[in-house]
This record gives sequence, structure tokens and C-alpha cells, in this order.
Amino acid sequence: MSLANLMNKAEEKGSRLILALDLLGPKDYCSSRAVYLLSILRDYVIGVKIGHPLTLSIGIKGVLDIIKQYSSEYFFIADFKLADVPHIMKATVKVLVDMGFNAVITHLFPMSIDELVPFSHGLNASIIGVLMMSHKGAVLFEKNLNVLLDYARGVGVDGVVVGATKPMYIKLARERLNRDQLIFAPGVIRQGATAGEALKFGADFEIVGRAIYEAPDPLLSARRIVESEREALHDQ
Ligand code: XMP
Repeated sequence: MSLANLMNKAEEKGSRLILALDLLGPKDYCSSRAVYLLSILRDYVIGVKIGHPLTLSIGIKGVLDIIKQYSSEYFFIADFKLADVPHIMKATVKVLVDMGFNAVITHLFPMSIDELVPFSHGLNASIIGVLMMSHKGAVLFEKNLNVLLDYARGVGVDGVVVGATKPMYIKLARERLNRDQLIFAPGVIRQGATAGEALKFGADFEIVGRAIYEAPDPLLSARRIVESEREALHDQ
């Protein structure tokens, strides 16, 4: 599914919030917690990012069941930060799309996704490249940002990930990428960025994990984040 569908969901729900569903632990607990969260968050969350934590906890079949149950309500993003040679990238993305994922996050630095982007579009799926990571030690990304940006733009990825903790790079990415290349910003609240801040610098979506799924009241937490996002967008 193209990121235009995600933007449509954003407009319908008045939200830019993507949930990082990083539940890790016993299978039954994680499965039922995932279902509970997705059943209560539908008014505020537009997309769900699933990666190693949940997949290792509940298995491929568990992830498949969740996507099947909620595919009409959420846009599903596979975050295994793929970084392999082109034919493995294509084969892996095909499996993930067959599972029901609408978009897949890949690394840009191996420079192995030239063929993957059109291949994924042929499968009606989107590719999101990791441009900048939110943690302090991500110096290799900082040193090579220009190369990664040129590659992301040239290869035509549908979106990029830029940590919300580094808003100057969000601003730079917004200036350098095509307008239809969307920016996803993780690192909100628990890594230090405030809700809505990344949007002010030009991000299109914010990805939030622990501040929602570990909150005593996940619905209230999601509502507050979305309200801050609405204010941030309104002030622009
Ligand atoms: P928390 O719990 O900190 O979760 O809200 C953040 C989620 O986002 C992912 N993450 C990143 N992914 N570049 C990425 O590609 C980053 O800079 C980055 N920072 C956080 C993380 O995997 C988790 O799912």
C-alpha cells in the first residue's frame, strides 16, 4: 500500500501517530496485550510498526493474525531494518508483503535498494529508508548524511526515518527530499523529543512506543500525543 494511504488515514483520524508495538515477553501475554492495544487505540493511531521484539515474542503466525485482524484500521510497517544484498532484500520484502505489511523499513547505507524500490511498488508496498538514528552514538550516519540523502532521493524511497531527537536533520531532509518522500520520526517522549516537535521541523509522522504501551493508561497517552501533534500542525 502506498504512503498516500497512510496520509489518507492521517487526515481521516486527524493524527500523525504511529505506534511502535515493541512488546517483548511471554507469547500469550504479548499477543493479548497487542490485541488489546490495537482495539483501544484505533481513534488515535494510524499505523503500527512491528519489528524484532514482537515477532520474536509471538512468532510469525502471531504477527500474521494481528495484521489480518486489523488490516482495515491500521497501516502496518515492518521494521527489521533490512541491510542485505539486492536479491535477499527483494525476497524478504516479498515475504513481508505477503504477510500483509504495507511498508518495509530498510537501511540505506548498503546502497542495495535500487531495484527493491520499483519491485516493492509492483507489490503495492512502500519502502522507508533509515536516514538518521536517534541515539547519540550514530556518528557514522551524521558523517555520511549527505551521501545517504542523495541516495534516498535518487533511488526514490517513499519515506525516510530520522530520529526526532535530531530535529536539525529533519529540517535538512525536508529541504533536500522530494515533497512526496515522507519523514518518519521516532524517539518521541522516552528518548527525549516532545510530541509534535518533529512535525514542526518537517516530519510527517511520529513513531511512539514505550510512552504508549508502557503507560498506565495507553489511550490517554495516545490522545495527549495526538492533541500535541494537532497543536503543532495548527501553529504552523
Ligand atoms: P520508543 O519506545 O523509544 O520506541 O518510543 C522507538 C521505536 O522507534 C525505533 N527507533 C528508531 N528507528 N531510527 C530508526 O530507524 C531511529 O533513530 C530510531 N529511534 C527509535 C525503535 O526501534 C523503536 O521501535
